[in-house]
Amino acid sequence: MATKEPEVITDKHEMRKWSRAMRSQGKTIGFVPTMGYLHEGHITLVREAHNHSDLIVVSIYVNPGQFSPTEDLSTYPSDFRGDIEKLMAIPGGVDVVFHPHNLYDYGPNLSGDNGFESKGGKLKGAGVVSCVEDSGFGHETWVRVENLEKGMCGESRPVFFRGVATVVTKLFNIVEPDVAMFGKKDYQQWRVIQRLVRDLDFSIKVIGSEIVRHNDGLAMSSRNVHLSPEQRQQALSINRSLLRARIAAEKGHVNCQELRDLVTKAIQEAGGKVDYAEIVDQESLRAVEEITSPVVFCVAAWFGKVRLIDNMEICLRNGDL
Ligand code: PAF
Repeated sequence: MATKEPEVITDKHEMRKWSRAMRSQGKTIGFVPTMGYLHEGHITLVREAHNHSDLIVVSIYVNPGQFSPTEDLSTYPSDFRGDIEKLMAIPGGVDVVFHPHNLYDYGPNLSGDNGFESKGGKLKGAGVVSCVEDSGFGHETWVRVENLEKGMCGESRPVFFRGVATVVTKLFNIVEPDVAMFGKKDYQQWRVIQRLVRDLDFSIKVIGSEIVRHNDGLAMSSRNVHLSPEQRQQALSINRSLLRARIAAEKGHVNCQELRDLVTKAIQEAGGKVDYAEIVDQESLRAVEEITSPVVFCVAAWFGKVRLIDNMEICLRNGDL
C-alpha cells in the first residue's frame, strides 16, 4: 500500500529549516543521499534508515562535481516521478525528498553569510567539473580525504572522490541528519565518507548497508539500464569470479596475485575490460599481497561504454588458513 507523498524541498534554506524544526521536537533524522533513478539497493537503504531514525530524508541530486568532462553525467538516467512512487511504496515511506536544482549556485552574494537564494539554474552536459569551477558562482572549496581517495576508483576517476566528499559535506550541512546510509557496493566511497565524518567531527552516524543483487548475482546499479542484454550476461562474470575467488581464499589460496588473475581472466573471457581488480585492507584500503586479515576484493570493469563496480568482503577465520 502506498504511503503519503513525501514533501519535495528544492531550496537548501527550506531543507535546513525543516530539519531544525524536526530536531527541536526531539525527532531524529535518517538521510539517504542518492543521484536518483532509484533501484532496490536505494530502497533497502531507506528501509534500513527506518530502523535508526524517526524521520527520513532522501536527496535526489546528480552532482556535477563528481563527474569529469569525459564521464557520463549527461546520460545519467533519471525518473523523478518514478522515484517518488518507489519511495511511496516503502512501508513508512519517506518524509522529505530534497531535490535541489544546483548546489553550486550561490547567487551574486560572495560575502559568506550563506544567505544563498537559489537562482535555480541547472548545470548540464559535459565539462561539468570545470563548469562548477568556472561557473561564476565562485565555488572553489573542495573536501579531500587524501589517502583513501587514492587508488582504485580514484585512479581512473581522479575528481570523483573530491566531488563526492564535497557534495556529501554540503548535504550533511544542509540536512543535518543524525544517521546517514551508504551502500557498500561503493565500498571506497563508504570508507571515504566514514573517514570525513570522523576527521571533520560531524555528529552523524554513518551506516554501510550490504550490496543488493539481482537474482542472478549482478549488483544493482542505476547504470545497469545502459547494458545490452549481451553485456548484462557478460557482467555476471564479476560476481561469479569474485565468489570463486572467495571460495579459493577460504580453501587456503591466499596469494592475492593469483586471486586477482583469476578474476581478471574470467571478466576478460566474458568480454569485459578490467579497470582494476584489487584486494585491499577493509579499513585502510591499502593493497595486500596475502590475505591474513579481513580484506575486500574490489573490481571495476567496462562492458561496452558501461563501467560497473562490485566487491566482496573476505574474512578468513584463523582456522581456515
Ligand atoms: O553514491 C551516490 O549515489 C553518490 O555518489 C552520492 C553519495 C549521492 C553523492 O553524490
